[in-house]
Amino acid sequence: MNRKDFVLKTCVLCIGGTGLLLIESCKTTSTVVKAKLFGGKISIPKEELISKKILILEIEELPYPIYISSNAKNEVHSFYMKCTHRDYKVEFKNDQFYCNNHGSRFNSLGAVIEGPAKKNLLELSVKNLNESYIIDASTIDT
Ligand code: FES
Repeated sequence: MNRKDFVLKTCVLCIGGTGLLLIESCKTTSTVVKAKLFGGKISIPKEELISKKILILEIEELPYPIYISSNAKNEVHSFYMKCTHRDYKVEFKNDQFYCNNHGSRFNSLGAVIEGPAKKNLLELSVKNLNESYIIDASTIDT
């Protein structure tokens, strides 16, 4: 799906009254997209995630981004990119999450590899629908 189709498709879904999504393609990188919450949920077109494998969602209403990935087995995982040590954004690179504040590291499934963080990243549930994935962000404590 190209950028124009992606924007058109997401806008059509919004106008169609699903009340679930509005996503705009980001102008800076191919994996970062801007998104909005609708009823605590975010909808991602399946084709977009399958083609990119990893998306970082910058949510207007949330202080930290949301990570979502799809692997070769079509397993989808989503995490809130807030360090569990203190309030700080984690970065994703080399298949791990890093916190540059005090050095905590988490594996690609959000589990702590190295402290000082003791808790895993908050995993968000994802529903697999026909043409989209729906991330439930209602468990995020803002
Ligand atoms: S805030 Fe992330 S390691 Fe301390």
